[in-house]
Amino acid sequence: MVIDPDTLDPQACYKLLIGSVVPRPIAWTSTVSRDGVRNLAPFSFFTVASRQPPMLCISVGPRPEGDLDKDTLSNIEQTGEFVINIVSLSLSNTMFESSKNHPPEADEFEKAGLTPAPCEVVGAPRVEEAGVSMECLLDRILPLGTDSLVIGKLVRFHVRDELYENGRIDVSGLDPLGRLAGNYTKVETIFDLPADDF
Ligand SMILES: Cc1cc2nc3c(=O)[nH]c(=O)nc-3n(C[C@H](O)[C@H](O)[C@H](O)COP(=O)(O)O)c2cc1C
Repeated sequence: MVIDPDTLDPQACYKLLIGSVVPRPIAWTSTVSRDGVRNLAPFSFFTVASRQPPMLCISVGPRPEGDLDKDTLSNIEQTGEFVINIVSLSLSNTMFESSKNHPPEADEFEKAGLTPAPCEVVGAPRVEEAGVSMECLLDRILPLGTDSLVIGKLVRFHVRDELYENGRIDVSGLDPLGRLAGNYTKVETIFDLPADDF
């Protein structure tokens, strides 16, 4: 089957995109508004954008229900800063809570029952409970189609001591949650290639 995305309605195209690009890591993104309100939301349109300097990107889509930007995007535009926290399986339900559409004045750390921990460079807090958090300074926002690609320079890694092994991250210990289409996956099998059991 060959499908020309131009023949699809946007929702049908979105379903193919999110079912094909899998599993996706989740950038649990903390920001703070100009007025000091803390915000937290997950973004699975997320990847490394540059190795040197280290840069990360997330893609923020439109709100389904209106013209206002998502709070994450407004806060990044206002402050030029954000933090990407990695979601471990044990934090899945709190991540899901933070994805709900809370009003801009709601503190999403409080709503999700999470502890805001201070960062070194960035004013926004990181999630204390996360195994890895990365402080980012905004490099640029690229408007792309319906979405805004937010690119940030990573200025601090926070890695929980027991997950740091000789300069590497213990991925099994981190136990990262992955996003599929509408559902989720966990890292269960880690192997090197070539492998002869599949
Ligand atoms: C696992 C997961 C991944 C998500 N990924 C994205 C994404 O990549 N881009 C996006 O715009 N929204 C994504 N969302 C939806 C946002 O998290 C949601 O719109 C949230 O309410 C935005 O919050 P904010 O207004 O506080 O920024 C995702 C939701 C979940 C649960």
